[in-house]
Amino acid sequence: MYAADHTRHPPAEDADLVLRDAGAADAPAVAAILAEALGAKYRPAFGRRADAAIAGAVRDETARGLPGFIVAEREGEPIGVIHLATQDHDRRSDDEGWSALVGRVGFPRAAWGWVVLRSLRRAPLEADELHISELGVVSAARRGGVASALLAEARRRAALAGMARLTLWVTVDNAGAIALYEREGFTARQTRRFYLGRLLFRSPGLTLMTLSLPADDLTHHH
Ligand SMILES: CC(C)(COP(=O)(O)OP(=O)(O)OC[C@H]1O[C@@H](n2cnc3c(N)ncnc32)[C@H](O)[C@@H]1OP(=O)(O)O)[C@@H](O)C(=O)NCCC(=O)NCCS
Repeated sequence: MYAADHTRHPPAEDADLVLRDAGAADAPAVAAILAEALGAKYRPAFGRRADAAIAGAVRDETARGLPGFIVAEREGEPIGVIHLATQDHDRRSDDEGWSALVGRVGFPRAAWGWVVLRSLRRAPLEADELHISELGVVSAARRGGVASALLAEARRRAALAGMARLTLWVTVDNAGAIALYEREGFTARQTRRFYLGRLLFRSPGLTLMTLSLPADDLTHHH
């Protein structure tokens, strides 16, 4: 049931859909997509300041040239975004993130947000792992293959970079996202229950899903 189909490519030639790295100019659009799609994750952390916290973090990352965000756009309009993290990316983004956040939402809110987001925190990334830390598509564009295309792009980049696998955490009750990941060949590896999460996110737990990339995947994606 979880068998990965390693030969599948992005859905039918969707010539209108463009995937590209987000630059500093895309920060407001990327932040708006994430705020709409992932409000459930960030609102318990930052309350009314969630949008400002997200916008600031995206702005900082794109301005510093951290190559994590990929946008999907149609007719020049960004409609979906995926954020990919590597071990190296994690190390670089952690140091400055905190002081920027305090400046943006104030110390009490930043401290609370840190505690809340910590409860979602994963193990440190491994060197051969490409981690999907955010994925969102604007509601008006859902079920049109945008997330599938972004995941295919993530897989292509992971293979090119010689990564062994793609990983992500999803809340156990996010049935739509889990159906998407299973269809793309991801397998559930472990589930973590969390009490704080039940209170804050109204979700009983998080599931780690992974997609292993065969060593010869490189030869198929040149
Ligand atoms: C989850 C999400 C990213 C999916 O984006 P999308 O562009 O609509 O997904 P796609 O159109 O590429 O879906 C491909 C397939 O995945 C499955 N799928 C996607 N969304 C689904 C849903 N809500 N319910 C059931 N299956 C779903 C289907 O098999 C779908 O194929 P189909 O439309 O031909 O049936 C989007 O709904 C979203 O942004 N949700 C809010 C944020 C979120 O939950 N992000 C994931 C956090 S880990």
